[in-house]
Amino acid sequence: MALSDFIAQLDVLEAEATRAFGAVADAAALEAARVEYVGAKAGKLKEAQQGLGKVDKADKPAAGKKFNEAKTAIEAALAAAQERLAVGAETSAQAAFDITRPGRPLRLGKLHPITQTIERMKEIMGRLGFTAVEGPEIEDNWHNFEALNIPLSHPARDPLDNFYLATAAASGELNEATGPDGKPLLLRSQTSTVQIRVMEKTPPPVRIVSLGRVYRPDTADATHYPMFHQIEGLLVDRGVTMAELKSTLRMFCQAYFGGDDDVHIRFRTSFFPFTEPSVEVDMNWPKKAGGTGGWMEMGGAGMVDPNVLRAVGYDPEQVTGFAFGLGVERICMRQHKVRDIRDLYTNDVRFLAQF
Ligand code: PHE
Repeated sequence: MALSDFIAQLDVLEAEATRAFGAVADAAALEAARVEYVGAKAGKLKEAQQGLGKVDKADKPAAGKKFNEAKTAIEAALAAAQERLAVGAETSAQAAFDITRPGRPLRLGKLHPITQTIERMKEIMGRLGFTAVEGPEIEDNWHNFEALNIPLSHPARDPLDNFYLATAAASGELNEATGPDGKPLLLRSQTSTVQIRVMEKTPPPVRIVSLGRVYRPDTADATHYPMFHQIEGLLVDRGVTMAELKSTLRMFCQAYFGGDDDVHIRFRTSFFPFTEPSVEVDMNWPKKAGGTGGWMEMGGAGMVDPNVLRAVGYDPEQVTGFAFGLGVERICMRQHKVRDIRDLYTNDVRFLAQF
């Protein structure tokens, strides 16, 4: 084939293709033109390329150059048409959107399992006539120790067992933070502090529960965490006895865990500075109610020590009372068969969404 024929042929093709791409009005026409001119198998450009092999050897470089120029021009015309019709692309994207597809469900938020446990405990104790009250998490020496009959020499006051607070001077120097009485402030280590706060303000009878966070510098492991929750109960009136303590705890546990099963409470002798006598409280936990069939330890309790009643201005000759403090995490974990307390505080939504 003569070089001039080859060139003429490509000029015609370039003009024709440019005109065709310039004229397409929609995506379908564009696609048809694309196949016709630059289709990889049988496009006209591909066809013209075969002419390359037929020109004289000496003309090959010039023919190749012409072919590349024509190819570039045609591809540019195609790109321009694609760009021009991009507005139309939106329409086809809309057409591809299937409005009959089911929607994606929204994930609803939930209360944290500990919050659920607390709400349930408040509700049950409310039915037994106990009013829920709150106390501060930063406590002073009087409410966390002294009024609770915990003497200065008692190991419970040890800095290793408590989070004492510090103030930072501008220099960065840390100083012990103190309350109005000049004595150290700390994060409360037990909710028994609230007993004192309520009795100081209210004459007997009192019948309260207090649920909240307490802090102890324990290393976190499967059963310990430096912050956890307690439910504290206090009842002071004329003639309150340990029998009422036991039946209150029994009714509480029955309502929380028992269902149709009879729940029993077991006391083991113990010691707390603020109760006398003091006991550890266990609950039987029948297999039928999802339990182990054995005893489950719930916390401490006892009859309010006369020294405590005196410290808040009550007359121990007139009134007696019982108090108990149970671990909220322990009850929540047993209920849901959670084995590691840290799972409750890792904030992993996949874990929390189960409750
Ligand atoms: N405050 C005790 C504790 O944290 C529990 C307790 C509360 C014991 C009330 C007796 C009476 O271990």
